[in-house]
Amino acid sequence: MSRTHRIAILAGDGIGPEVMTESLRVLDAVESKFGFATERSEALVGGAAIDDGGHPLPDATISACEASDGILFGSVGGPKWENLPPDTQPERGALLPLRKHFGLFANLRPGVCLPSLTHASPVKNELIPNGFDVLCVRELTGGVYFGSPKGREERDGETVAFDTMIYKRSEIERILHVAFTAAMGRGKRLVSVDKANVLASSVLWREVAIEVAKDYPEVELEHLYVDNAAMQLCRRPDSFDVLVTENLFGDILSDEMAMISGSLGMLPSASLGSKKEGSDLYFGMYEPSGGSAPDIAGQGIANPIAQILSVAMLLRFSLGEADAAQAIEDAVAKAIDDGYRTGDIATGAASEKKVGTKEMADAILANL
Ligand code: IPM
Ligand code: MG
Repeated sequence: MSRTHRIAILAGDGIGPEVMTESLRVLDAVESKFGFATERSEALVGGAAIDDGGHPLPDATISACEASDGILFGSVGGPKWENLPPDTQPERGALLPLRKHFGLFANLRPGVCLPSLTHASPVKNELIPNGFDVLCVRELTGGVYFGSPKGREERDGETVAFDTMIYKRSEIERILHVAFTAAMGRGKRLVSVDKANVLASSVLWREVAIEVAKDYPEVELEHLYVDNAAMQLCRRPDSFDVLVTENLFGDILSDEMAMISGSLGMLPSASLGSKKEGSDLYFGMYEPSGGSAPDIAGQGIANPIAQILSVAMLLRFSLGEADAAQAIEDAVAKAIDDGYRTGDIATGAASEKKVGTKEMADAILANL
């Protein structure tokens, strides 16, 4: 009897549905190759869900996710819904509640610039002769995003608005453990990013980082203030291995990292909750780091690689199908080596094979 996993498919808006379609073809291929099956339950999210029933995260979608071993997410948002009140917009109204509801506290965002794609990076190529490979570990359910009090009121005759950046020791500890564990599996170097010269929550963050480091004597720990980290990332990205930081800093730094890596269309991400009972697998949500790219949606030109690599992360962290995950990652690397390029990573060189969304997936499938 073959293994069966349940996944929730939330394609969303913009390029979401078209890259999702291609990533599911890749999933089909590894299922037959590695002898497992998935039960897929498709659900509406974001603008598509607003158009259908008025809410970006319907109860039916939450139920589909609850019944699954992991969520494969496309992307949400677009100009059509931009003028709705912020809390009901596709991004905020779907992503933040999903993270909170499922306790997805650890956001892993790889920032990889392959040696063959350094031309696509805005960083001067002489600074990154061999590309780079950084993993950003962002705390995702705490800090100023969710801290209370949060609000807006009248004080002394004028409007004030406020947010609270607050962290519990336990919240810092658990994300630091995720980051140290990730560093152990990579280059054993961890940079903890904070603003301990100004913020009380950062002073605690740094104390906890130093304590947790004692459990991982092989990992070299360095601390950087967030402003300095932002500079060093674009000056010497290849000197970083793993970076760990709180929610808002991670939001900003992970976008910087994605930008310097050259193509948002290449980067997957994972948002992990607690480990499933009695196993090393996490419940998680997997999505491309880039957005819904409404400007190129529906044209068949979006790079499907971020969504395809998100499937690989889902297989590795939530489904326990590490061999299938590795096969997908190898197949993607080979397609790039063979010269296949969607518009976002093409230079126009004669050796390149310029392809659209479906052809890129075909090139990857051919390697499986
Ligand atoms: C991200 C996004 C979200 C965030 C927004 C859309 C709420 O920017 O996933 O990085 O700020 O976390
Ligand atoms: Mg962001």
